[in-house]
Amino acid sequence: MTDAHGGEGMEPAGMPSSPVAVVTGASRGIGRAVAVRLAAAGFRVALVARSVGALEELAGEIGGWALPCDVTRPEDMEALARAVDDRAGHAPDLVVAAAGVFTVAPVAELEPADLDLNLDVNLRAGILTVRSFLPGMLARRSGTIVQVGSVSGRRAFVGNAAYSASKFGIRGFHSVLLEELRGTGVRATLLEPAATDTSIWDPMDPDGNPDLPDRAAMLRPEEVADVVHFVATRPEGVWIPFLPVEPS
Ligand SMILES: NC(=O)c1ccc[n+]([C@@H]2O[C@H](COP(=O)([O-])OP(=O)(O)OC[C@H]3O[C@@H](n4cnc5c(N)ncnc54)[C@H](OP(=O)(O)O)[C@@H]3O)[C@@H](O)[C@H]2O)c1
Repeated sequence: MTDAHGGEGMEPAGMPSSPVAVVTGASRGIGRAVAVRLAAAGFRVALVARSVGALEELAGEIGGWALPCDVTRPEDMEALARAVDDRAGHAPDLVVAAAGVFTVAPVAELEPADLDLNLDVNLRAGILTVRSFLPGMLARRSGTIVQVGSVSGRRAFVGNAAYSASKFGIRGFHSVLLEELRGTGVRATLLEPAATDTSIWDPMDPDGNPDLPDRAAMLRPEEVADVVHFVATRPEGVWIPFLPVEPS
């Protein structure tokens, strides 16, 4: 993991007591909207993705720390947890795992590389993200984890086999995590949004494909971000283990 700001002079934009959030997938889409929403609410946000330029630009807009890294690399994620701890002085108050990929193909035409990509980023890296930050959060006996799953983690859509396997997988992981977190002071939520208008759809041209939802009918990333903010700001002792988010 590299530090886009060179590691020095990294004073946060917020007050010293501002809560600290880590957001993966912050370079665009839902993760970016979450970072913007949380910064507006006074969080100091660690911005995580691979696109250094996009993270630096966002940090210039909303403050926080641009911490580029590949979420599929365990050593990157461990270094990320140490970097956040160094800057914040403690484990994060909130971790939002929003990095993800989405490919579509019928099972008979599924490319092994696409299967690996979906499982690696959506499932394995979601687990690695929790694994990296959880020890510090447990030691502090506080904090909230928001894992961004998908409606495809509980419903079947034709062509979504690899994606759905990853999202059903993260649901299984999350269910075990919930059991392990009881009584620890750490909370976790699996957010399961329906289709949301982000760049994840760009290769599929949804408006030109009658089998896919039109962009206008999708959730806006800002709406999903608002729900993440809602989850993160519930009073201590309130648990939201699962939260589907649908357009009305
Ligand atoms: N959009 C939807 O319809 C929808 C619906 C339900 C759930 N979701 C879920 O929401 C999450 C975000 O999706 P989105 O729509 O916002 O997608 P997006 O616009 O394509 O953004 C994906 C984000 O993930 C990051 N990312 C991907 N691979 C990464 C890696 N190896 N290391 C670090 N960062 C990585 C990307 O950053 P870099 O490329 O810069 O690394 C980018 O910031 C995903 O988990 C997705 O499954 C999306």
